[in-house]
Amino acid sequence: MKGFVFSYLISMVYCWWEVGHMMTAQIAKNYLKDNRPDVLAWADSLVQDFNSLTDGKSNTFAEAAVWLDDIKETGTGFLNDWHYTDRPINPDGLLIKIDDQGRNINSIYAINQAVSVLTNQKTAKNRHTVFKAQMIRVLLHVIGDIHQPLHDVTFWNSSYPNGDAGGNFMKIQLSNGTLMNFHSFWDSGAVSFAPNNSFMARPLSQSDSQYLDKWSKELIAKFPKSKYSNYDMTNPSVWTYLGFRQAQQFVYPMIATSNSYNSDYEKQAIAFCEENLSIGGYRLGAKLIEIYDQILQNEAKLSLNE
Ligand SMILES: *[C@@H]1O[C@H](CO)[C@@H](O)[C@H](O)[C@H]1NC(C)=O
Ligand SMILES: *[C@@H]1O[C@H](CO)[C@@H](O)[C@H](O)[C@H]1NC(C)=O
Ligand SMILES: *[C@@H]1O[C@H](CO)[C@@H](O)[C@H](O)[C@H]1NC(C)=O
Ligand SMILES: *[C@@H]1O[C@H](CO)[C@@H](O)[C@H](O)[C@H]1NC(C)=O
Repeated sequence: MKGFVFSYLISMVYCWWEVGHMMTAQIAKNYLKDNRPDVLAWADSLVQDFNSLTDGKSNTFAEAAVWLDDIKETGTGFLNDWHYTDRPINPDGLLIKIDDQGRNINSIYAINQAVSVLTNQKTAKNRHTVFKAQMIRVLLHVIGDIHQPLHDVTFWNSSYPNGDAGGNFMKIQLSNGTLMNFHSFWDSGAVSFAPNNSFMARPLSQSDSQYLDKWSKELIAKFPKSKYSNYDMTNPSVWTYLGFRQAQQFVYPMIATSNSYNSDYEKQAIAFCEENLSIGGYRLGAKLIEIYDQILQNEAKLSLNE
């Protein structure tokens, strides 16, 4: 592969595309609806709290999963590091300097901050606060991001002496010959989630909402939660580590030997994204349940003390 020194920085993206995020949230929503409707009602009411303060494109539980990307476009850059955790893949053992690891501001931190704000005992009597309303949207988004393996790594070798920014500096060739940002290829579920003008534009049309709901139910049937009963469902450090391993074992190896179109890789990548998106949806659901149960406990303690 060539050494890429062009101005890809401008087009750097750090998010599952909108469809991936909305699917993760929709899977969590459908899981909660069937299992813990009380948790869904609480989380959804926090989503609604914020609606009048957004651009109107993130008013529903699923759409709100994209809000953390929306704010980037309006100059709110100070949360950009919350979208990923850059564990290094460094096959040549280069001496590397990683700024954000020193500060430990990453997707694990984001989730822990959200938990801390949402379950804070001092605010237990105020179920709704401005930061709680924001942090629910952080959870909806970042738990999705973690399940795109290129949000869990940065690759270093002498061609990428400053790292590849989670695949953002690499390119992959598509079947029609076009070169695509490698990170975007994965964000878009190997292009299978690519939105277009008439499809999945937010706010979602009624038919797109129905499509999303139907598709999420198909994935729930195909990848039922019971299949993952031995998976960790609540620890973001474990999730990012697994994403890192997937990147090391599967996501990068193909591009290491060739960056040209490989239909097997594309098929496997799509299958991988569908499954991991479903796992991400279940983990989002499980995290919301864990948080809500803690809130109920805090509230119970509060009423005892009164
Ligand atoms: C190739 O496919 C990609 C993804 O579908 C698309 O964005 C791009 O415009 C296509 N390029 C050409 C030259 O058709
Ligand atoms: C938009 O994407 C959807 C889903 O991939 C596809 O069914 C539809 O044909 C696309 N529409 C256009 C105009 O490309
Ligand atoms: C660095 O890694 C990339 C991606 O695997 C590879 O294409 C490139 O040849 C490597 N550079 C060196 C100097 O080994
Ligand atoms: C993603 O899906 C693949 C199967 O397609 C699975 O092997 C892997 O464990 C999943 N990744 C994570 C991080 O759970």
